[in-house]
Amino acid sequence: MQKLTLGVNIDHVAVLREARRVNDPDILEALFVACANGADQITIHLREDRRHIQDSDVTNIIRHSKLPVNLECSINKEILEIVAYERPHRATLVPEKRQEVTTEGGLDVFGYEDEIGYAIERLHDALIPVSLFVDPSIEAMEKSKELGAEMVELHTGLYANLFAMLHSNLPYSNHSVKELEFPRNELEVRLEKSLSEIKMAALHAKKIGLEVAAGHGLNYHNVSDIVAIDAISELNIGQSIVARSVFSGLADAVAEMKRLTTR
Ligand code: PXP
Repeated sequence: MQKLTLGVNIDHVAVLREARRVNDPDILEALFVACANGADQITIHLREDRRHIQDSDVTNIIRHSKLPVNLECSINKEILEIVAYERPHRATLVPEKRQEVTTEGGLDVFGYEDEIGYAIERLHDALIPVSLFVDPSIEAMEKSKELGAEMVELHTGLYANLFAMLHSNLPYSNHSVKELEFPRNELEVRLEKSLSEIKMAALHAKKIGLEVAAGHGLNYHNVSDIVAIDAISELNIGQSIVARSVFSGLADAVAEMKRLTTR
């Protein structure tokens, strides 16, 4: 079986830092800890609104990372120039809307064909391989190949939402998710369909010569069915890892402060 690359997305460490605008938690410390504990790649997203990762983070992370850096970005021309200058190991083109909480769907490779084509060319000129973050459909795989991408990242958000709704005894409280409204048997059918779309898209992408990643909403409960898809060679995971680390690290953090404040 092919080795699976784990891309650890550390954007949420920067979210916490930006809440205070101080260098705590330090994004480079997150990079070193991820690197020392099994991450195969670091993933960051330089958003147009700079809500988490800043331009200086991109420079510092690329400069200091021993791991490949996968830089997510939109097709905005100013952002593309920054990415071309910074030369990450790979760029992943993602859709971006100012009001969204996170990346909500895959790139519209049909509606924005020219713009995506331009972005791929610009990044290729800078010798940066390109992945497209797309919904898992055969048509999107074909289009991504036609546009010249080396790789696709399959959006697993719908799968993750359906999984969470079906296993509602697991910690999950996103009541904005529209799948909540479906009855249980409908959720089961939809989850099965969603997983099978991911499998078929992954197989097809691999067959036509694309590398295949997957990501969004993957967590400690839902990741195993995605890991089992052989055609997928990389996963990018952020929220669940940073969320888990709050609790796995909180005990030590409180105990150490108690020690320092005891006299
Ligand atoms: N892959 C891409 C392309 C993304 O945009 C994101 C979210 O920033 C992720 C993976 C990671 O998603 P999550 O934080 O839900 O694990």
